[in-house]
Amino acid sequence: MKDHLVNIGIIGLGTVGTGVARILLKQKELLHTRSALTFQLKAISELDWSRNRDLDLSHVKCTTNADDILLDPEIDIVVETIGGYEPAFSFICKALQNRKHVVTANKALIATKGRELFKIAAANGVDLMFEASVGGGIPIIKGLREGLVANTIESIYGILNGTSNYILTRMHQDELEFGQALQEAQAKGFAEADPTLDVGGGDAAHKLTILASIVSSGFVDFGSIFVEGITAITKLDINFAKSLGYTIKLLAIYRLVEDGLDLRVHPTLIPNSHLLAAVNQELNAIFVKGDFVGDTMFYGPGAGERPTGSAIVGDIVDLSQDLLLKEGEQSSKRTINPDVQVKTIPISQVKNRFYLRFFTLDAPGILSKISGILGDCGISISSMVQLEAHEKENYVPIVLITHEASEASMEKALQEIRKFDFVKENFLRLRVF
Ligand code: HSE
Repeated sequence: MKDHLVNIGIIGLGTVGTGVARILLKQKELLHTRSALTFQLKAISELDWSRNRDLDLSHVKCTTNADDILLDPEIDIVVETIGGYEPAFSFICKALQNRKHVVTANKALIATKGRELFKIAAANGVDLMFEASVGGGIPIIKGLREGLVANTIESIYGILNGTSNYILTRMHQDELEFGQALQEAQAKGFAEADPTLDVGGGDAAHKLTILASIVSSGFVDFGSIFVEGITAITKLDINFAKSLGYTIKLLAIYRLVEDGLDLRVHPTLIPNSHLLAAVNQELNAIFVKGDFVGDTMFYGPGAGERPTGSAIVGDIVDLSQDLLLKEGEQSSKRTINPDVQVKTIPISQVKNRFYLRFFTLDAPGILSKISGILGDCGISISSMVQLEAHEKENYVPIVLITHEASEASMEKALQEIRKFDFVKENFLRLRVF
């Protein structure tokens, strides 16, 4: 960094890269006033220049070759905004090996290849920053590692996937079925290239891996997280939940328990009185409990050009100010330690309240058989709803909410209930907050 000039190269001018470029060009003076640094967007590498992005790039080198950025000795910070695994991974490695700091929004890469990338960054004395990878424009990573640094984080409950939240909101408010709502979410452009990552819970699990790694100052294995998506939820379940006073949300959960971390992503019935139940559409929110601060909630847009660009530029400024203090050194803010393995507990050890929805024959003695199995497994029923059978339909929907029980007991009970031929196969088990 010469004369407080920071040269930046962006690789990938899609939605997020365009947001970063727009902010760097438009907010140059504001950023200078606030940081005493001059941020120069020097080069952008992009394969498809045909799209109109409404940017004045007359002073920016526009290329299709990422090496024009990765090998340029004047570039201080590389912004990776192509997403996905390759070539993003190779580009980030090359940038770090060439002693360039990297800022990325790539949650899949940080969650699954972060250990390797943080080691390369440390070996080369440079930083890898990733605020935009979780919660889009919400400064949750800075919030956790700086604002809440004095706290042991006891729990995090996050709505971290905008696509799923949009789908569940539309199902809740407008009585859509899952498929219709998914199509709308895709048309609005929040969904990943592969929407199974959104609706299957994988995207939220990537983000939870990152948050859990930060607050535990180690590295969580993505594979150790229990993940269940929202694809089996029907309009009927949404209506049952509503009638019982709950809203269904896809939650990413972190709980510090005696034997390690309880980490999971699954749809959850949240009481309507809880703040998270009011987080609607594609918005994200993260409810964090620290031992000194108590309950806090971070809320805002979890995706999109402007919010994600805002988070990336936040990292660029933060990183550059650190460099000013310690030229050539790695920032002390890198709090994911790739060498510390974090212990997680298996889902079977977790206790939850459950929502069970069955379709059963409408005949004498059936409920007592189901409740008998639950009782034998030590599971107590807290409430029950049965709808009346429609004319000519043999099967009726029944919903049970249980008191707290272990996942292992519930699994055992469901194995037994599955054997009854009066219960249809498509039953649903959800967890209750
Ligand atoms: N597909 C993601 C979501 C985009 O729906 O939240 C932001 O990571």
